[in-house]
Amino acid sequence: MEVVRLASETDLAGWRNAARNLRAAGVPPEAALWTVDGDASLFAGEGGPAPAAGAAPFTVPREFVELAQQVILYRSDERFSLLYRLLWRLQVEPNLMKITTDPDVDKARLFARAVSKAAHKMKAFVRFREVSDEDGEAFVAWFEPAHRVTEATAPFFAKRFANMRWSILTPDACAHWDTHTLSFTRGADPADAPISDALEDYWRTYYASIFNPARLKVSAMQKEMPKRYWRNLPEAGLIPELIAQAEARTSEMVRQAPSEPERRIVKAEPRARAAAADGRIEGRAPASLEEIAEAIQVCRRCDLWRDATQGVPGEGPKQARLMFVGEQPGDQEDLAGHPFVGPAGQMLDKALAEAGVPRAETYVTNAVKHFKHELRGKRRIHQTPNTSEVSACRWWLDHERQLVRPRVIVALGASAGLSVFGKPTPIAKFRQQGLQLPDQTQGVVTYHPSYLLRVPDADAKAKAYAMFVEDLKFAWKLAA
Ligand code: URA
Repeated sequence: MEVVRLASETDLAGWRNAARNLRAAGVPPEAALWTVDGDASLFAGEGGPAPAAGAAPFTVPREFVELAQQVILYRSDERFSLLYRLLWRLQVEPNLMKITTDPDVDKARLFARAVSKAAHKMKAFVRFREVSDEDGEAFVAWFEPAHRVTEATAPFFAKRFANMRWSILTPDACAHWDTHTLSFTRGADPADAPISDALEDYWRTYYASIFNPARLKVSAMQKEMPKRYWRNLPEAGLIPELIAQAEARTSEMVRQAPSEPERRIVKAEPRARAAAADGRIEGRAPASLEEIAEAIQVCRRCDLWRDATQGVPGEGPKQARLMFVGEQPGDQEDLAGHPFVGPAGQMLDKALAEAGVPRAETYVTNAVKHFKHELRGKRRIHQTPNTSEVSACRWWLDHERQLVRPRVIVALGASAGLSVFGKPTPIAKFRQQGLQLPDQTQGVVTYHPSYLLRVPDADAKAKAYAMFVEDLKFAWKLAA
């Protein structure tokens, strides 16, 4: 039995080195035992047997390399041997990675998906608390990721909070950013993180303001924000009360006139220079809406991912008769990870309610899945996506269309029109018409709810809103 001792739980370089040597020396997977010993200095260079003299160098498919980067972060003792088994089998099965029904490939993909989800949750649920030391203000967060994604997600936080000194403490490893350099230390104890501070009030106020009672689905909310993360989330304390108040607030929201979009102050980061590819790029067709939701988090089809908090997937029943396509997530959607939850979403909800269209029976998505914006001072200002960004993101929309197969697709505004119809579709000319699309669905084009919020003149606003409600009624009838 060959025993390999790796320097850490995430020692990909050590694993790669040892696996290369084992394979070259002809050691089969069942004869290799993988262990981790945290004292790196003891084991430096201990990467399995020395390679056999004259062993031919080999290459492995890119899919394997990308998968290994994710799988190694999965919390299971099995991962090193699973990867080595795949590496071993690739010698005689060069197309192995393409056989998705193979149990080893399937398991590795399952691990990779769980890791990608854990990274996504970490990006969404880390909450910093303010502390101060001799150098002034700093921020500390405690987090317990489902898998060992701390090092892999730290560059995201460095980019997102470039001007803050911060540390993220986890049981596996701690990441530290001093506004210039990322560094890592060993895992920490929850007691090392500060418990509460004034920032929590900020978070609670913000969360309460984006909570959309009309869209309350308790089970879906708990799925998105699993209870295991609640104790680190200052806003979690609000959830029971917000749920209790939801019904009354919904009626109030529908009754109220739309408000101007709230101007949020967000500290955004400078554009990243290098592509810090931290995940897989999915080239194959996604098989489910869940897969799309996951894959857009690592989408690199255009550059918009760089400045966005996350990709915002579509939402709604898998077989909805009616699909709405907006332009792109706004500031609040970018932070919340859900489409149409900000001011435009409230306007849409109000008009849907008036048109008698139950949003819960429709599928709501966007032509572009990342928030395009520019920084003005501290504000993130919406920017219209360009034609190439809309085209790049059509890959996702086309697959959503194939999976949901709605009877009718409503394009909200010009960018959505471009994406749905593949060419400019002037709203004034084409509204109130069912336009035949090549996939046998009917396309309808109407105003974007944000446009209704921007119309300055009260009469014109009321008229545009009435037309919007009429268009929603028309589309719903067409989809019946
Ligand atoms: N505007 C859009 O087009 N989509 C959203 O999800 C929010 C605002």
